[in-house]
Amino acid sequence: MDNIVIYNEKDRTFTINTKSSTYQMQVDEYGVLLHLYYGRRAVGCMDYLLTHADRGTITNIYDAGMNRHYSYDTLPQEYPVSGMGDMRSPALMVLNNDGSTASDLRFEGYEITDGKYSLKGLPAVYADASEAKTLAITLSDKASKLKVKLLYGILPGLDIITRAAIITNEGEEVRLEKVLSANLDFLTDKNKELITFYGRHGMERKLQREYIGHGEKTIINRRGSSHQHNPMMIVCDPDTTENSGVCYSMQFVYSGCFKGTCEKDQLDQVRLQLGLSDEKFSYPLKKGEEFVVPEVIMSYSDGGFSKLSHNLHSCIRKHVCRGYWRDIERPVLINSWEAFYFSFTGESLLGFCDEAAALGIDMLVLDDGWFGGRNDDNSSLGDWIVNEEKLGMPLPELVKRINDKGVKFGIWVEPEMISEESRLYKEHPDWALTIPGRAPVRGRNQLVLDFSRKEVVDHIFSMICDILDSANIEYVKWDFNRVIVDVYSRTASDQGKVLYDYVLGLYDFLERLNERYPKLLIEGCAGGGGRYDAGMMYYTPQIWLSDNTDAIDRLRIQYGSSFGYPISTMGAHVSAVPNEMNGRVTPLNTRSVTAMSGTFGYELDPKKLSEDDKNEIRNQVKTFKKYGSLIHNGTYYRLSSPFEKDYTAWLVVSEDKKEALLSAVITNERANPLPHYVKLAGLLDQTIYHNDDLGVDYSSDALMEVGIPLPNIMNEYAAYQWHFSAR
Ligand code: GLA
Repeated sequence: MDNIVIYNEKDRTFTINTKSSTYQMQVDEYGVLLHLYYGRRAVGCMDYLLTHADRGTITNIYDAGMNRHYSYDTLPQEYPVSGMGDMRSPALMVLNNDGSTASDLRFEGYEITDGKYSLKGLPAVYADASEAKTLAITLSDKASKLKVKLLYGILPGLDIITRAAIITNEGEEVRLEKVLSANLDFLTDKNKELITFYGRHGMERKLQREYIGHGEKTIINRRGSSHQHNPMMIVCDPDTTENSGVCYSMQFVYSGCFKGTCEKDQLDQVRLQLGLSDEKFSYPLKKGEEFVVPEVIMSYSDGGFSKLSHNLHSCIRKHVCRGYWRDIERPVLINSWEAFYFSFTGESLLGFCDEAAALGIDMLVLDDGWFGGRNDDNSSLGDWIVNEEKLGMPLPELVKRINDKGVKFGIWVEPEMISEESRLYKEHPDWALTIPGRAPVRGRNQLVLDFSRKEVVDHIFSMICDILDSANIEYVKWDFNRVIVDVYSRTASDQGKVLYDYVLGLYDFLERLNERYPKLLIEGCAGGGGRYDAGMMYYTPQIWLSDNTDAIDRLRIQYGSSFGYPISTMGAHVSAVPNEMNGRVTPLNTRSVTAMSGTFGYELDPKKLSEDDKNEIRNQVKTFKKYGSLIHNGTYYRLSSPFEKDYTAWLVVSEDKKEALLSAVITNERANPLPHYVKLAGLLDQTIYHNDDLGVDYSSDALMEVGIPLPNIMNEYAAYQWHFSAR
């Protein structure tokens, strides 16, 4: 762990080194923290990259005297502020006590420590002293007495640098109007491209790659939960591909409103930023108070998107996901939702359980409809009391009878929500986020609970714990099915705090749940994949990736999601056909091959299946169990893009590279098809690999150089899944 963070007294540079990257900053003659370099591993001082010139109408700080060559507006800033002449997008905007919005952050000191910092009340990458270092640089604004401690967490082995900050007010009350977590100014005259992940309900995280032109491009989540934009951005060169070229990423460890900006300025410099959304945000900070700025994970790759994804996958798998389930394969589950929706009884669930047990499925998850008077989605959210009349038996009895069949039990909850038609709403109408004097905006006919209030979080927590304590419940699906619109808390001292404090309330609940039930497996969900982010993954090691379970659409959703997140976090199930969301019919094998690049389970009623299908499912479950550890812990490679080829292929390779699982799905069947050669990756060189399914030996080098041809099956959406072992 030598040379990871170096402060060079002479040129006042901070240099951060990871395995293949270097990040450098400099405290300049005025005490301003400039960003110098982020790229391939480098030695020496990079301040020669700075160019100073009189550029006409640009601004000059007062300390520079008559020097018109020095400007915040053109120099690369480490943490740009508003009001000092940098007219690009600021990372920090503070409304001072006198009504002005200027801050002038200058260097005060630094500290380098072993291990990785953590953040009070917020999720953050964790690592021990042998794996990480922390650099803290304190900047302060003399006039307002505001201090900003910039935090850098370095995981050198993974080429990961995290960013966060602590803002402390030592002066008169101020308001934080905009607070971002990370800013990256690129000094370059090269064209760059931006990749973002956009979508909609059922079609999340589609990849968009675009030329970065002049002006500002913004991705924003004003919804609380966003199918529309994932908090992840990549900047790359135009020639960067899956396996070559340079790329950088930023990923937010936060589950609320965010803003990501990519700006090309007058000098063709590119600024990339990510942090809290400044809309409906205005956070008062009294003297002595501090504000914790959530974390952004950054990574650099000089080996294309594949290497970048591997860095991020390892970081999230081993340093964000936590607890009992982090490293072990998850149970194969069957969920009641698409089988029954709201129409079930205890007896029908027991029948469902018999069917599931006969298929070798590990766990039955009782989805929506078991509580209050909920028989459709119009009522009862907030009434977390078992509807024994509907079940025909108490929950502990149902769970025991399910367990007696050798099947585990899990349950669905949506703790952050309230239905107007509920006992809770009658007792506490003020617990919903609504604006006095205005009719609230409904979503799925429900309102959002005010999780910025501790008593609300505590009350729901205790109701959910009563349920979890009452029976052997080993899994919870934590849902969140609408967006936040009415941002108004009845007790908040300030409405500008509500959105951020809400997320703190959510994390507090989830932290307590994890502490109290360390072996409970929690799966996140938000109308499918609306809140699929690294913040949630700190508490819920898997997240339902999308309500869309159609195998072909899923290939695209899984492809986009895999850029930033490991497949061990992707909730993926086999569902019935025609698919409920798009009517497509795909073979059962294709659905299962696709769902196996995730946590794997079923979302259908086995009673409606033929004996042949049931036999096939029995084999699928066995296959998943055989390869579960490889899938969960292996290195994942995208081998082709579902947006470009007539097939989609991917590969998981074991850590020792001796084992690999190749999967491929034909997405477009053509007459007289051209051969599809799928090129493998990450295998040992000069090694013979045995294809255990076809019983054939292959040269690893030829597999990686030319590929393996997919035999033509003459069947729409054919899928292939082959296991290879090194001889
Ligand atoms: C959301 C989830 C579904 C299901 C329903 C229940 O839509 O994404 O999987 O749990 O809620 O109401």
